Amino acid sequence: MKRIGILTSGGDAPGMNAAIRAVVLAAHHHHIEVVGFYHGFNGLVCEEHIAMAEPLTLVKVNSIIHLGGTILKSARCQLMHEEKGLKIAAKTLNEHDIDGLIVIGGDGSFSGLLALKQHWSGRMIGIPGTIDNDLDGTDYTIGFATAVNTGIEAIDKIRDTADAFERIFIVELMGRHSGHITFNVGIACAAEQVLSFENFPVDDQQVRLLQLANEIKAAQKNRHGSYIIVIAENLWPGGAFELAKQLNKQADIECTACLLGHIQRGGSPIAKDRILATKMGVAAVQAIISGESNVMVAEKNNAMHLIALDEAIKHQKLVSKQLIDAQQNILALTAQTQC
Ligand code: F6P
Repeated sequence: MKRIGILTSGGDAPGMNAAIRAVVLAAHHHHIEVVGFYHGFNGLVCEEHIAMAEPLTLVKVNSIIHLGGTILKSARCQLMHEEKGLKIAAKTLNEHDIDGLIVIGGDGSFSGLLALKQHWSGRMIGIPGTIDNDLDGTDYTIGFATAVNTGIEAIDKIRDTADAFERIFIVELMGRHSGHITFNVGIACAAEQVLSFENFPVDDQQVRLLQLANEIKAAQKNRHGSYIIVIAENLWPGGAFELAKQLNKQADIECTACLLGHIQRGGSPIAKDRILATKMGVAAVQAIISGESNVMVAEKNNAMHLIALDEAIKHQKLVSKQLIDAQQNILALTAQTQC
């Protein structure tokens, strides 16, 4: 093993830079060079790929552990879904004499890696980096903890103004198609309602709207003050703004909608993400040196493990059942009756 390639792909996540740094330091320790490919898999498939790669020295990663985003840039790459793109990627890796490739990203990025396997024989390791926390086999993904903290900080601020005006807010959170962020943020900022795929599937929009309207009205009878509903993105057709409009029009409930959006993806990684990313970066290099391939590094019960890449992306990781139960059967009911 002489030279490792590394790239970040898909939605960036706070802590990706910490993982890049750990990979470079661990590789240096074992006298292995690291080449960084820019703009996700585009750095491998772009015809001008030579300009999209550069050696990552210790100096280059010296002061990046605290930075959000990714110094390697990120992207989603359509060409990695095509035979032509995969062949170019393999050619690029061979031209750079790369023996092993480390990809920091989510399920889409790992599908790209698995597809590349048909065309390239080097070792391939995935590091789970996504705010969505939806990869199976690891307790946490890099970026999730920071995104949850960012969501909490924002909603604590919304709570102040909501309290002052005794307003109802609907705050939409990221997570693509999973509710890890929504449930964790909702519980940590004492949201009166948490609406996510796991507890509020919108199979019949009209029935769900009526249910929500009744619950809000019942709660308003018993309490004064703010009322915060957090909702997962992609749950309600049209999102938080549409839900607010429908509650107003059909149930005469006035709500203020707020989209946190990409704010959740940015910012300096909190301690938990820096440390997780560092452990995963070191584990990825150790795995590649010991001959592992097509695996994702994962943390389970505070220890590092390797999980087959296809296993990691086969099923979306579920939100903790205890968390859902606590919200649904205890917290939400109590919030409903509080004076
Ligand atoms: O996967 C990370 C994520 O931030 C999701 O939570 C969100 O649905 C998506 O990426 C947004 O993607 P984009 O930045 O391309 O709009």
